[in-house]
Amino acid sequence: MARRVTVKLGFEGHVDDVSIVIPDDEPTPWQWGDKLTLVGSEVARVDGPLKATGAARYSYDVNLPGMLYGAILRSPYAHARVRRVDLTHATRLPGVGAVLRRDDEVLRFAGQEVAAVAAISPQVANDALALIRVDYEPLPFVVEMGDALKPGAPAVFATGTNAASPKVFERGNVGRGLEEAVATHAAVYTTPVQTHVSLETHGAVAQWDGDELTVWCSTQGIFGVRDDLAVLFSLPPDRVRVITPYLGGGFGSKFGAGAEVVIAAQLARQARAPVKLMLPRAAEHVATGNRPSSWQQVKLGADRAGKLTAIDLVEHGSAGIGRGAGSSGPYKTLYQCANLRTEERDVYINAGPSSPMRAPGWPQGCFALELALDELARKLDLDRLQFRHLNNTNPVRAVEFDLGARAFKWDEKSRAPRSRGPIQRGIGVAAASWHGLGSSGPQAQVIAFRDGHVEVRIGTQDIGTGTRTILAMVAAEELGLPLAKVNAEVGDTRYLFSVPSGGSATAPSNTPAVRQAAAHLKTKLFRLAAAVIGAQASDLEAHDSTIRVRSEPSRAVSFAEVCRRIPGDSLSAEGERAPNYAGFRPDQAGCQFAEVEVDTETGVVRVVRVVAVHDAGRIVDPLTARSQVNGGVIMGVGFALMEDRRLDPQLGLMVNPTMDDYKLPGPLDVPEITALFVEVANGITNTGVLGFGEPAHVATTAAIGCAVYDAIGVPVRSLPLTPDKVLAAMGKI
Ligand code: MOS
Repeated sequence: MARRVTVKLGFEGHVDDVSIVIPDDEPTPWQWGDKLTLVGSEVARVDGPLKATGAARYSYDVNLPGMLYGAILRSPYAHARVRRVDLTHATRLPGVGAVLRRDDEVLRFAGQEVAAVAAISPQVANDALALIRVDYEPLPFVVEMGDALKPGAPAVFATGTNAASPKVFERGNVGRGLEEAVATHAAVYTTPVQTHVSLETHGAVAQWDGDELTVWCSTQGIFGVRDDLAVLFSLPPDRVRVITPYLGGGFGSKFGAGAEVVIAAQLARQARAPVKLMLPRAAEHVATGNRPSSWQQVKLGADRAGKLTAIDLVEHGSAGIGRGAGSSGPYKTLYQCANLRTEERDVYINAGPSSPMRAPGWPQGCFALELALDELARKLDLDRLQFRHLNNTNPVRAVEFDLGARAFKWDEKSRAPRSRGPIQRGIGVAAASWHGLGSSGPQAQVIAFRDGHVEVRIGTQDIGTGTRTILAMVAAEELGLPLAKVNAEVGDTRYLFSVPSGGSATAPSNTPAVRQAAAHLKTKLFRLAAAVIGAQASDLEAHDSTIRVRSEPSRAVSFAEVCRRIPGDSLSAEGERAPNYAGFRPDQAGCQFAEVEVDTETGVVRVVRVVAVHDAGRIVDPLTARSQVNGGVIMGVGFALMEDRRLDPQLGLMVNPTMDDYKLPGPLDVPEITALFVEVANGITNTGVLGFGEPAHVATTAAIGCAVYDAIGVPVRSLPLTPDKVLAAMGKI
């Protein structure tokens, strides 16, 4: 059964009554103007102390009696045929509990899994790896995209060429759009492969009990890992339990049971002992995914009024031996243009496959598009922010541009005179967009106990974003309780199903299920309370740790007293995530402003400040929301200035698979970051909560690239913006 409700949706100055149909047992969506008590207030994450003291148990921290340590032998060749693997000597080494080989006959990247062992210590495991004899037949390989496209290049896959067929999207007529333009711009932009560098590496602890498998796994999707392992070992899914109470990041690289998880389970079965297999950092860089590279040929045209008449993208990108390059998202989404064509093509090279990474395709597309827009704006002699305003049709982003410009002091900084010294300042602005609205699927359980505390249980995972905290806050809000009375348990496939933590969809997918479950629990508690107060259950409300008559608040009973009347030990209710309602807007606008200092003598770029403005939906906890923005911006600084997976063209090996040589932002590289949120009542779900992980990362690199162009007067069209490239662009080397 369903009911129709009217809700106020939109944002400041743009609020409308919208009529939507919702399931009967669904709470009315939080709407514009709703004053909530706990939701929206700054709350330090509930598991912060556990993490700070080391009490939070990550997969890495799981140690079981009799546990062995797994290690993986990886291909030293970028391309080779495996003629023979001899495990005899490794098997005979004292302390070795299991040895296995993978069945790939052809290895296609350096770092691909060849064999594995489990032993009583990591040292013995490494000794055993050294005793595995592999007879390789090295094959010709290619690790650079340009080389892979040359005629006669070594073929990464025996069948076919290294270039996959292109994906083309077209609307209007780009040729005509370019003809109609008074100014055009064409250039090539490139971005390197970026690796995820999650602080906790990939891996798992696997334990068999008969034909039941338990896996503590560093994963963004416990149910996906469960299902993968169930299929692989021909088990019913309920014989596989995946536990992930804490997770040290993933950024898209930890969906499903990766090779290391499968190997851990295989070794454990063979050894008849639990096996811990957490990857060393080097393996992390080469074998667990990455953001594909891009080569983007961009053509833009604009008319006299500053309106875009054409956007044309031809893109090649390499996801190694995998698929998933492509950067067209921003081109299709950020600015209005009738004539648009994008052509994207995956190019295979002998390198580890990509995996989704924080807004897949978007930071690289945004960098090229936004820098190209700045180059065109210069030809049009237009202020770059005004140029973006002219081509923006999103009302939320229009407000964000203004809000950000004021906070950033765009006009003032635009007029600032050039420095006479070697340090030049520059500013840039770029737009962001995302579409992480979440999905149905999650189910939550909320339980009230006789002692008056409440527990949320849901099979999601906290990737590090504060999921536990915000889910407890939503349940506490619905039940009128302080946060201290509610805790949230996540990360176990014994709990009800939830979706993977990806696509910035964790908060929008899970908060509505939790809110509905809490609402259902409230209904049950109202029945108990009604008898105490002598009122109708339907006349009650939960507020400030009491249950009371809505129209006569003095007739009340404490929440604790109601819980004492629970007949058994606990009272439990479930809730499910309803499918998305039409809502106010299907997207999430953002923009970021960056200011940089470029040392024109050394070419060193320093990001001074970033102002990030984002569509907030409804913010549960401004503190965790800001954390996400900080993380997105810092990662964007890394992509802009430092990160670059380098493969040696002679050897086919990654030359910088460490956290020293693969440079990442450190504390001194972090700019002053201001996060501003535009509250939007979107009505997509009963909470209207959106995720921030990806939108906060889309525009940063682009804004920095634009700011560097502003500072030195010439564009640096190739990431990362390292000193050599900056100096070369200025003609100094
Ligand atoms: Mo994300 S790239 O969907 O974890």
